[in-house]
Amino acid sequence: MVGQNIARTTWKRYTLRCMKPSSPKHDSWLITNCAELVTVAGSAPRRGRNLREIGIIEDGALLVHNGKIAAIGTRRHIEKLPAARRARKLDAGGRVVLPGFVDSHTHLVFPASRAVEYEMRIGGASYEEIGRAGGGIVSSVRLLRKAPAAALESQARGWLDIMAAHGTTTVEAKSGYALNLAGELKILEVQKSLGRKQPLEIVSTFLGAHVPPPEYCDDPATYIEKIARTWLPRIVRAGLAEYCDVFCDRGAFTVDQARMLLTAAKKLGMGLRLHAEQLTNTGGGRLAVELGAASADHLDQVTNQDIRILAASDTVCTLLPGCSFHLGLRDYAPARKFVEAGAVIALATDFNPGTCPTPNMQMILSLACTQMRMTPAEAIAASTMNAAYSLGRHERIGSLETGKDADLAIFDVADHREIPYHFGVNHCCLVMKRGIVLQSRGIV
Ligand code: NIG
Ligand code: FE
Repeated sequence: MVGQNIARTTWKRYTLRCMKPSSPKHDSWLITNCAELVTVAGSAPRRGRNLREIGIIEDGALLVHNGKIAAIGTRRHIEKLPAARRARKLDAGGRVVLPGFVDSHTHLVFPASRAVEYEMRIGGASYEEIGRAGGGIVSSVRLLRKAPAAALESQARGWLDIMAAHGTTTVEAKSGYALNLAGELKILEVQKSLGRKQPLEIVSTFLGAHVPPPEYCDDPATYIEKIARTWLPRIVRAGLAEYCDVFCDRGAFTVDQARMLLTAAKKLGMGLRLHAEQLTNTGGGRLAVELGAASADHLDQVTNQDIRILAASDTVCTLLPGCSFHLGLRDYAPARKFVEAGAVIALATDFNPGTCPTPNMQMILSLACTQMRMTPAEAIAASTMNAAYSLGRHERIGSLETGKDADLAIFDVADHREIPYHFGVNHCCLVMKRGIVLQSRGIV
């Protein structure tokens, strides 16, 4: 029954209209009259009490030249600089400016919505029950294998436009909805093509070990071996993925299988990420530390000992509260315990059709604050600087500092706390990537 319903949803019925960039390219900008210029300046990663140090400049301004931040400070100081007179003026009108969000965990390329499952869950079926009945990730796999690359690309591009409209300027994107070599390459090629054709920066992750594919459901170990031996070298040679990820959980892969694949990926020079402790506690978080992974993601089911181990490492704990919200679960990752233990935490959407269909980082901030008791300042640092750190890009993005990329977003509020406070509203009214205005509403 589950499979039949899901098979009726096709990628064709789910095409989004792209929004066009609304403003031309310009070499130099003076962005001024910012009620709060939230710089998040300082060292990365941010831990403990430092997570809430977000370097706010009141009545701030910044100069952008050739895609980089040329100067930043108070309006009085910046407007006096000779370069400010030559630059095109962008009056922020007493609003709040933030570094662009770095959404460091998404499953961007997928074939169709799973709204049918959403309704089933409302009716009482659990995420895992739906998966076991032939729905879930495997239902997306069936459709993705048949979907043309061009259709996947145009749909993903529509979502990237929506992400940008909500203030995101960098997006990590995982494969994992094909689970055969041809399909996984198709997804990774789509991601590469999107990185060339549209302005948001895409960081590609190979997630061939999402769940065992139908062909190997009785023998996941052989599937893992095959990926490690033949797929990974090919993906690395073609420059198609920077990171390798594994879903290490009940119903997906074991810690030993994850260790085997991630060790092979590491030998090939890939960075490592891990879906860990989402549905059950399996030891995935500790494995991430053992292997020096860049990030361990979800962590809703961690123990206090896991928290201590993660906190003593440089592995970023990427928390994804949108999943608990969308699945209607009571358990959220214990963000306060992570912060108090000194762990590096990041926030991301986990944008995907099964567990978190929102591409909106502002909503994630609201959930982090209301459900996980992070302060708005902590949530901002976690979704900019620390997320950039988890992608190895903190020296170029994640904060507004001289010499860094001019990736920023302007929000139609006078106080940064109003972004998560007025939840469910898109406050973003301008987004800039490398000095180019991508979208704006009533500003330029
Ligand atoms: O991060 N947990 C595994 N993967 C995704 C869900 C994917 C899906 O349900 O399609 C996640 O939650
Ligand atoms: Fe995920």
